[in-house]
Amino acid sequence: MRRPIIAGNWKMNNTKQQTKELLTDLIPLVADAEAEVVICVPYTSLWQAGDMIRGTNIKLGAENVHWADKGAFTGEISADMLLEQGVEYVVIGHSERRQYFGETDQTVNARVKTALAKGLKPIICVGETLEEREGGKVEEVLVRQTTEALKDVDKDALDKLVIAYEPVWAIGTGKTATAQDANDTIAIIRDTVAKLYCEKCAQEKLRIQYGGSMNPKNAKELMAMPQIDGGLIGGASLKAADFSQVVKYNG
Ligand code: PGA
Repeated sequence: MRRPIIAGNWKMNNTKQQTKELLTDLIPLVADAEAEVVICVPYTSLWQAGDMIRGTNIKLGAENVHWADKGAFTGEISADMLLEQGVEYVVIGHSERRQYFGETDQTVNARVKTALAKGLKPIICVGETLEEREGGKVEEVLVRQTTEALKDVDKDALDKLVIAYEPVWAIGTGKTATAQDANDTIAIIRDTVAKLYCEKCAQEKLRIQYGGSMNPKNAKELMAMPQIDGGLIGGASLKAADFSQVVKYNG
């Protein structure tokens, strides 16, 4: 019913040459994937990656987008600029942006609305920090982040966006949420969306990924959980063999 989506988040990795090498290896390895496969790459790799994956089953994603159409926003990038490069998906609200670059629930919402209005598909990241988890605030944080990110977003957009549940303490640390825990926490997010919109839309339309140290060793177990509709993969997306293995576990 909900097609799994596996997205690589390259972060600030891969020059043009490295992009070429990685994709030369990756394209044939995922050619028969049943899951939807996306790579979210640095802006400087968009052209190279877009050129190489044209005509394949891999879709192109970016790692951020500004909410304004254009203007005096040094260092930012607009939806039109991304669309021109063939971008379909865009990561919004990644915890690294929230942590290091002043991203807030409000700016996440602004970016999500612009992305959708322009025809880009947002991958909206939510997740609690270790401190919040230990303080028993997981539900509170996720309900807030999800509700704020989707403020004024139409019900019809629910099958055009993806939510990635990424516990901050699991990102790049080698620590993963247990499959059961990830599943139960994602259920909180789905339930939040059900309350905001409707039960049927949350169950049938909305895809929610898990992210945080997902790799070939733990992907199978995570993906077997009923609430988990794929993954947002950081470190393991930088190696063609690892990423393609994760893709395989998604059918
Ligand atoms: P990781 O990153 O797989 O390296 O933990 C995931 C992410 O930040 O999206």
